[in-house]
Amino acid sequence: MSSSRIQAWLYDPVSTGKKLSPVTCFRRSFESGRGLLRLKVGALGLFDCRLDGERITDSLFTPGWCDYRKRAEYHCFERPVPAGPHTLEILLGGGWYSGHIAGKEDRVPMLWIEAALPDGGRFGADSRWECSSDGPLLYSDIYMGESCDLTWKWTVWRPVGVKKLELPLEAFSGIPVRCCAVLKPVSVTGTIVDFGQNLTGRERLRFHAPLGTKVVIRHAEMLNPDGSLYTENLRGAKAENTVVATGGEDFYEPDFTFHGFRYLEVRGADRFEAEAAVIHTDFTEHLSFRCSNPLLTKLAENIRWGWLDNALDVPTDCPQRDERVGWTGDAQVFVRAAHYLTDCSRFFRRWLKDVRAARDEDGLFPIVAPWLERFGGSAGTAGWADAGVICPWTVYEFTGDTSVLEENYAAMLRFNAARWNQFRQGHVPPARFGDWLNADDDTPKEFLGTAFLIRSLDLTARAAQVLGDEENRLILEYRERMARNFFRTNYQNDLHSQTAMALALRFRLLDDDRRQTVADALDRHVREARGMHLSTGFLGTPHLLHALSENGHADTAWALLEQTTCPSWLFPVLHGATTVWERWNSWTPESGFGDPGMNSFNHYAYGAVLDWIIGVAAGIRPDFTLDPHPGGSLEFLEAEYRGLSVRWEKMPSGGYRYFVSVPEGCEARFRGASLPPGKHEFEIGN
Ligand code: BGC
Repeated sequence: MSSSRIQAWLYDPVSTGKKLSPVTCFRRSFESGRGLLRLKVGALGLFDCRLDGERITDSLFTPGWCDYRKRAEYHCFERPVPAGPHTLEILLGGGWYSGHIAGKEDRVPMLWIEAALPDGGRFGADSRWECSSDGPLLYSDIYMGESCDLTWKWTVWRPVGVKKLELPLEAFSGIPVRCCAVLKPVSVTGTIVDFGQNLTGRERLRFHAPLGTKVVIRHAEMLNPDGSLYTENLRGAKAENTVVATGGEDFYEPDFTFHGFRYLEVRGADRFEAEAAVIHTDFTEHLSFRCSNPLLTKLAENIRWGWLDNALDVPTDCPQRDERVGWTGDAQVFVRAAHYLTDCSRFFRRWLKDVRAARDEDGLFPIVAPWLERFGGSAGTAGWADAGVICPWTVYEFTGDTSVLEENYAAMLRFNAARWNQFRQGHVPPARFGDWLNADDDTPKEFLGTAFLIRSLDLTARAAQVLGDEENRLILEYRERMARNFFRTNYQNDLHSQTAMALALRFRLLDDDRRQTVADALDRHVREARGMHLSTGFLGTPHLLHALSENGHADTAWALLEQTTCPSWLFPVLHGATTVWERWNSWTPESGFGDPGMNSFNHYAYGAVLDWIIGVAAGIRPDFTLDPHPGGSLEFLEAEYRGLSVRWEKMPSGGYRYFVSVPEGCEARFRGASLPPGKHEFEIGN
């Protein structure tokens, strides 16, 4: 429900909105009869709400992150209460609204509330609230970490500020963020704790230190050769929590901050025990995967972690350094893999509101959403802006739900129209980031601009067809043909990089009689020019193996997937990775860590290959069509997606045996034949 009514909001009148400001506690007492208390709580910032001393929800980072220029969000809670006096206490931190990630110094966090009491009474953001900012939380900042003094209590209460804001307020429509797992350390060496897994979340620390001692907790994804934390790649993110001890047995878990880490360093405690709270959007997971190559099984597991670690309320590039933002390019690259892994359509649909909200005045989609001023500009960038088309289309493909297209269609049309206008005037869409982080195999930016211009026209034309908009379908298809002719005249005989060839094949950019020549050239590039290695960046990687296997080179696709020397998917796995690295060479035995200026060990983009592993190797398509492509060194492979399971095994004869299990109420199709619910078995010879 969206409303643009003017609302009253609470704020702390002494808060300056400066970075590293104290967290404020808002408090209000009230009398109520016995029954159900209904609360709606929203914030510009992050809130943590307690009723009579108990957290009212297990959701974290509420209400989430959105484009604060355009709207704010609230969550709804219901709680049975006994008759009598009650107290609400709500902590309010800056979160994504202010503080370092927002890059703003003038934003005072605000709180909105509506309470409906069992006996019919109501109250909201009125002057009967009071607030205090001299409690334990000196600051709680997403990049910097938290400073907490357990010896402090909220004691000095003062009247709140109440301000009218005209800002549309919407019920949170995504999936809540929660603590989804708790990990115990695999080792503790002096002050260094190893959780054995690169994760997003924070520590839960039981510790003892003399009264007033400051315990310092730092986070890192990797260790230096001398066993100390490797933190250079965090750049400006301090990622440090400090907690002042009471002298008793203390417990500490930060509130409004999270970190991307595998290792902790805990200094200043006499003794401590640490656990890691794994925090992300609480998706239903619906994929399992295993095969006879343990490195490949581990790769799939790393891709899963990479997704969960980068899905804390919005899809992000990475969870550790001073970025952690909704880069649209990364999201469009990974969106298919994300759907194989999790039930994430609601998550993407909510994020797409912010992709639409951050369009420029011409309707070009942004490079980052929710909007951040420091990443403003560059709307329309090829491969990034196209997320505004590719993501809704993918959600539709995986769910069959046309309403996601309806929600995004007008914006998709406008985006294509704006691009077409540029193109008519002789400008192909800009491709600011090129084929980001390729392995010395650049693709010309004009090529990428033209390829994505055509891709978005094509997908939008398909959306027009689904929605029955004949008139726009014809226009889009006509424009697509024009752009394709332009492509054929200018590029089709001049494809050099793996990404150029893969995109030309996958986006159907070539004349039919050129397809095989290009596919063979791509195969040779991989085998001969690169010695059976890939060289694609973010934009080409999701398409590389498909381009090969769809055009007679499945063996090469398998060999690339199982390659273990750099650059490859399994090289990091062989060297102990537990997530997907940002660069093919984020770390190598010869050179150690890559350029710390940009070197995350938890970026999901290259993990897009999961779409090939499940969609082609296991052969499970989103619509339950099955077409497995066994190969490589594998003796067996098994995958289950939404209850549909496929296992194939190599037979001594060289052929394969297939076991398929179709869940109740579903139908699958295997090479043309319809498979009803139940178990099925086939043998297909060599
Ligand atoms: C991010 C990327 C992003 C890129 C834009 C980086 O700093 O981490 O993943 O897509 O900038 O090129």
